[in-house]
Amino acid sequence: MNEKFKKWNWNSNPFVLKIDPKLFTGYEEQLKAALDHIDNGHKIALLTGATGSGKTSMLKWIEFNTREHVLYVSKPPVSPEVFVDIFTDLFHPTLIEKIFRIKPNLHNLPQYVNKKVKTGKLIFLLDEAHETDKNVLEWLRVLIDQIESVSVIMAGLPNLEQNVRDKLETLDQRITTRISLQALDKSSTKDLIKKRIEAVGGSGIIPFTEQAVDRIFENTGGFPREVLKKCNRLINTVEKDEIDFSDVQEHREVEVSNVRVDGPIVTFSPKPPSKEQLTNLPYKQKKIIELLGRSDWLTPGSIVEQLEFKSYKSDSHAARSINNILHRLMLDGFVQREARGKAFMYALTSKIKTIMVEN
Ligand SMILES: Nc1ncnc2c1ncn2[C@@H]1O[C@H](COP(=O)(O)OP(=O)(O)OP(=O)(O)O)[C@@H](O)[C@H]1O
Ligand SMILES: [Mg+2]
Repeated sequence: MNEKFKKWNWNSNPFVLKIDPKLFTGYEEQLKAALDHIDNGHKIALLTGATGSGKTSMLKWIEFNTREHVLYVSKPPVSPEVFVDIFTDLFHPTLIEKIFRIKPNLHNLPQYVNKKVKTGKLIFLLDEAHETDKNVLEWLRVLIDQIESVSVIMAGLPNLEQNVRDKLETLDQRITTRISLQALDKSSTKDLIKKRIEAVGGSGIIPFTEQAVDRIFENTGGFPREVLKKCNRLINTVEKDEIDFSDVQEHREVEVSNVRVDGPIVTFSPKPPSKEQLTNLPYKQKKIIELLGRSDWLTPGSIVEQLEFKSYKSDSHAARSINNILHRLMLDGFVQREARGKAFMYALTSKIKTIMVEN
């Protein structure tokens, strides 16, 4: 076992990216809105947020903490027929249904579910909903209309809102609750760290000092996944008993010191860009930012692949140009990068994530 962990009385690393409903913190207002939606028997809610903001965590919290029939689906089905299996798996078939292999089809599925749910309620939590295709959304709408006491929460990246509007206006009009997860506030960020440490046997926020935690909050903007990654990096790299604010280096987005520009080495610390700068970016830069907004960390190679800009002579021209653009975006504080083995990976800076979520 890791010596440090022993010293802090930890039985494992508290900062792994696992999702455990018992460790959920903050987002009280958003959680209340979701529970009100369910209690009031409303039909469709949207839960949106940038990658790593905590959508899956919130759905899992609801799944774990409600007594009704609750169905968590991690990805939208690829075809509407899959809804039949999704729903029938939830209700254990009766002996007769088993013997005669009675199974509903898509058309009589609502009646089947209504019968099973009887006077209760069904909570349907659909994750990664931004990936749902139109045909599946259409059937989902029909099912939601016809299953009497179903409350649905569809979670996805911020583009889910626009997606639903563009693909199926009739579904969009039925949305009664819109919840957006931005980031945790300062006290919830501290709570997140504390809960995880205590869950593995540690005490309070030890080895972090109060100031270190404040700094972590400032550096990560309170984005849960970034907070966990930062803490993980700190406990693995700092060789002291206590991790103080000076150990929490400036965030990666301002960590690009010693960038070589035209020969001499200059120290560089970009000011966070403004909303105006973001809206005024040239086309390709905007496309890259949008793509990173829908993803987490990406290599330049996968950015080239996914964007398929037609204007380049060859793949290697494209790769070189995208690399230059990414470098520019990093210097301007739009993206951050991290070395992973030999490659660099890029992600949005927390400041840009916040601006994008607000829009
Ligand atoms: N409110 C929270 N309290 C405690 N931990 C959280 C919270 N929100 C997120 N986390 C942690 O942060 C990490 C990322 O959260 P999660 O996977 O829920 O994000 P997401 O919005 O679903 O991201 P993606 O869009 O990439 O699926 C997880 O390890 C999770 O445990
Ligand atoms: Mg998720």
